This record gives sequence, C-alpha cells and structure tokens, in this order.
Amino acid sequence: MKQFILYARKTVTSPDFSLDDLPGSGGRMDLVARCICNALWISHDLRRDSCIHVVACGSPNPPVVISFYGDKLRDVSPDERNIAAWIKKALAMKRKNPGISIRKLNFQQLVEELASEGNIFYILHEKGTDIARVKLKVDPVFILGDHIGLPKKEEKFVERFEHEKISLGSTSYLASQCITVLHYELDNAPVGI
Ligand SMILES: C[S@@+](CC[C@H](N)C(=O)[O-])C[C@H]1O[C@@H](n2cnc3c(N)ncnc32)[C@H](O)[C@@H]1O
Repeated sequence: MKQFILYARKTVTSPDFSLDDLPGSGGRMDLVARCICNALWISHDLRRDSCIHVVACGSPNPPVVISFYGDKLRDVSPDERNIAAWIKKALAMKRKNPGISIRKLNFQQLVEELASEGNIFYILHEKGTDIARVKLKVDPVFILGDHIGLPKKEEKFVERFEHEKISLGSTSYLASQCITVLHYELDNAPVGI
C-alpha cells in the first residue's frame, strides 16, 4: 500500500464551508482536493493500492484525519468540487462512502498507528536526500506539508520512527505536484516496490 499524509493546518473541520470558495471558506480545501485527486486517480481508473490521509487542523474541531482509500471509493469523481463535496458530507456524517473515513485523531497518533503497522516514512522536503539516490522500500508513507510546510515539531516526531527525508530537487513544488512525481517514480520503479 502506498500512503500519503498531508498536514493541512488551515483546513476546516466542519462541513460549513462553501463549495464556491474552497481556498477561503474551506481553509485551502482546494489544495486538499487536488492532493486527493493526484494520490488516487489515473486516467479512467483509481489507484487501488493507494490511500491518502489529510490531517485537518483548522477550526472549529481540530484535529480531524480525513482518509480516502482508492480500493473502496464509490461515486466520487476527480474534480476538486466533487471531492470537496464528499468531504463536506463525511464531516456532516451525512452520506457514507466506504472509501472515506473521518476520525478524531492528531498527526502524531496517525504516525504511531502507521508505524505500528510496519510502514516506513518518507518526509518530503526540498533539503532532503535526492530521491534519485534513495531506494524506496515497500509500503511507503510519504509525508507532505501544506502551503506553509510541515511544522518542525511534527517532523521531529516522525524522526523517532524508521524514516528518510527525501527531496524532489531544489524547486519548491505544490504538494499535489509532489504526489504526482512520487507516483511516477513508483510506477517506474523496479518490481518489489
Ligand atoms: C508548497 S510546499 C511548501 C513550501 C513551504 N513554503 C515550505 O517552506 O515548506 C508543500 C510541501 O510540498 C513538499 N515539497 C515541495 N517541493 C518539494 C521538493 N522539491 N522536494 C520535496 N518535497 C517538496 C514539502 O513536503 C512541502 O512541505
């Protein structure tokens, strides 16, 4: 399983955001939706071996972990508005989708949970080791910051577990673009990853 964690410090934790204003009222819900799309969709199909966990830390009830699973998603289309609409329904506990879960969990609890399942963490950072020099292991969990980056405190916490800090180069990309590049690397990696 390929997993992504997106730390989204401003993303709202109530369904009271407007689908017409995802960046503002949603606390960068546009960024979140783009990351979900890039983590799970390919042309005409879903990546059934992938999932993404969004740690939403915005008001009014932070933190909340919103997870999307490629193997279980039903009726969601890859556009930002539709993904955001499903997040809205999930936060309102209205319509259930087997591929979406909402949990009252913080970043560190999520990391502990994934570490206990034997996963390996890769922290995405411009100043990490060049990805070309890293042999990615099976069951990778990639950790990305939002438009501001991953808080130092959370980065230090991940360092307690098996991890590596990796870079896609000195250019600072959007988190959603990083996800696409990571999938490309994994899609073209030798068998076993
Ligand atoms: C828009 S960037 C955040 C930039 C933010 N100004 C900072 O200093 O962290 C969002 C996230 O994408 C990831 N990222 C962006 N460019 C990267 C690169 N070249 N290599 C590795 N990760 C990158 C990092 O995880 C970063 O926190």
